[in-house]
Amino acid sequence: MFTDAASYGCIVGTRASALSAQLCKWFNDGVSAGAKKEDTHMAAPGTAEQRHNAWKALEAHHAQVGTATLKEMFAQDPKRGKRMTLTAEGILLDYSKNRVNDETLKLLTGLAEAAGLKQSIEAMFNGEKINITENRAVLHVALRAPKDEVIEVDGHNVVPDVHEVLDKMAAFATRVRSGDWVGATGRRIKTVVNIGIGGSDLGPVMAYEALKHYTQRDLAFVFVSNVDGTDFVEGTLGLDPHETLFLIASKTFTTLETMTNAHSAREWFLKNTDGDEKAIAKHFVAISTNAKEVAKFGIDTANMFGFWDWVGGRYSMDSAIGLSTMIAVGPDQFKEMLEGFHAMDVHFRTAPLAQNMPVLMGLLSIWYTDYFDAQTVAILPYDQYLKRFPAYLQQLTMESNGKHVTLEGDHVGTETGPVYWGEPGTNGQHSFYQLIHQGTRLIPCDFIGFYKTLNPIGHHHDILMANVFAQTEALAFGKTAEQVKAEGTPDNLVPHRVFEGNRPSNTLLADTLTPRLLGSLIALYEHMVFTQGCVWNIDSFDQWGVELGKVLAQKIVGELDPTTTPDLKHDSSTNHLIQLYRQKKAANG
Ligand code: F6P
Repeated sequence: MFTDAASYGCIVGTRASALSAQLCKWFNDGVSAGAKKEDTHMAAPGTAEQRHNAWKALEAHHAQVGTATLKEMFAQDPKRGKRMTLTAEGILLDYSKNRVNDETLKLLTGLAEAAGLKQSIEAMFNGEKINITENRAVLHVALRAPKDEVIEVDGHNVVPDVHEVLDKMAAFATRVRSGDWVGATGRRIKTVVNIGIGGSDLGPVMAYEALKHYTQRDLAFVFVSNVDGTDFVEGTLGLDPHETLFLIASKTFTTLETMTNAHSAREWFLKNTDGDEKAIAKHFVAISTNAKEVAKFGIDTANMFGFWDWVGGRYSMDSAIGLSTMIAVGPDQFKEMLEGFHAMDVHFRTAPLAQNMPVLMGLLSIWYTDYFDAQTVAILPYDQYLKRFPAYLQQLTMESNGKHVTLEGDHVGTETGPVYWGEPGTNGQHSFYQLIHQGTRLIPCDFIGFYKTLNPIGHHHDILMANVFAQTEALAFGKTAEQVKAEGTPDNLVPHRVFEGNRPSNTLLADTLTPRLLGSLIALYEHMVFTQGCVWNIDSFDQWGVELGKVLAQKIVGELDPTTTPDLKHDSSTNHLIQLYRQKKAANG
């Protein structure tokens, strides 16, 4: 029989003692690395001792309140549901269904202060090179800065550069949308194909889907990312090359997947037209920081939209990488999206930590990750237009904070980035919600919903939103054995039908999904990631973890040719798999 007490124990899963041991190591390392720390650009004002104490205070607090239930907390404070809300830039965050009390929030804010979050935010906005492993500034906030703002990198104001590219994008997007930009044979562009991967794909495709309601419907958009030829073949199936525009989106213009797809696009285009290379200029444009490689590929750099090394790939959807978005929704609505981003930037920079929405969300995720052993966070948008939002957030969160060493290069003393995943509601309810409600893991959830739908038909929207409210209520308060019994459930089935509850969630509500709102929502998560990275003392802006596999793949590609006899020097498993592939490939011809 499940009792409430037993059930809390099984999902609390505190890892306090492991954390304690790690913190001691971290503290000692921190003290010995003190001198080194001064050299970094993210030098925090909190000493290693203060940071250590802030973590320890939370640990002691967790030991006291970690088993408290949401049911108790709500019973103690009838105003909790209204009190624990925060509004910023049209987004309401209800964080009352989190396993926190006022003291928890105070201690979490103290942790952020000890980590030097305020100073780190300023360092980012001031163009300091806070991406220390690549010696780069981190300035996606400059991509949405108003024209008159001054943000300098190495003494150069980058804001005019940003607006010059935005103006060039706007002129081009307007021409494509109006039909003034025509293909080589004078025909209007009907399909835009964005070729890119990672940040050069996930942001554009997410934004296209999110803002579909606002798009020009006589233009079709296709997103090709995977090096699997199927993606390209299916994406271009039935397209008329004379009416197709390819946007080759790659910050580096060297990414294997994107360059392979770009070359296939070039071949496809030449094969299906009269093969005149001069026509390329009307059907291919590049979005990149690498003019040399763009020219080498054969795209006129006059048809290139640039950006800068201080824009990380996963933070680039509002740079030139967003050209497909701008063509789809038009320059004015793109501008509204940028204004939404900027408004949330200002909130993040100026709001006190305790009333700062991205900070609060970042700290709550740290509370669950480091004190409750939560390993994942579910992102559950109740809006079909946000169907690619969880996928977009996967890169943003996990490529940023999937790190195991501190800024000083020491092994971290705490857990870092959780796994982010999700699906739009209500689909997910009929798939994985079972585990969130009755499984043994604690999975904090972010529910995202809107007061007003863009497609009001029948009662759909009320039904959709009723599910948001029902799910967060069920997760928080569950259903006791007594309640189940009172419904006349046979004794043997009671344990199966008990909902432990006490499962935390955030609810984010906004009026309606507009370009501006989307910008604010994305910036909210960008800055939540920043908060996490700062508290964990890691570099959220590099991605060395993707390198090893890339290098090995480049080497192995050459070894798959059955007409050569390479001296395979991998482990026995990899050698065997390569041999099998070579044999099958030879047999298949
Ligand atoms: O996956 C690694 C990565 O470098 C991402 O950070 C980036 O968004 C993606 O590859 C694509 O890179 P590029 O825009 O240079 O082609």
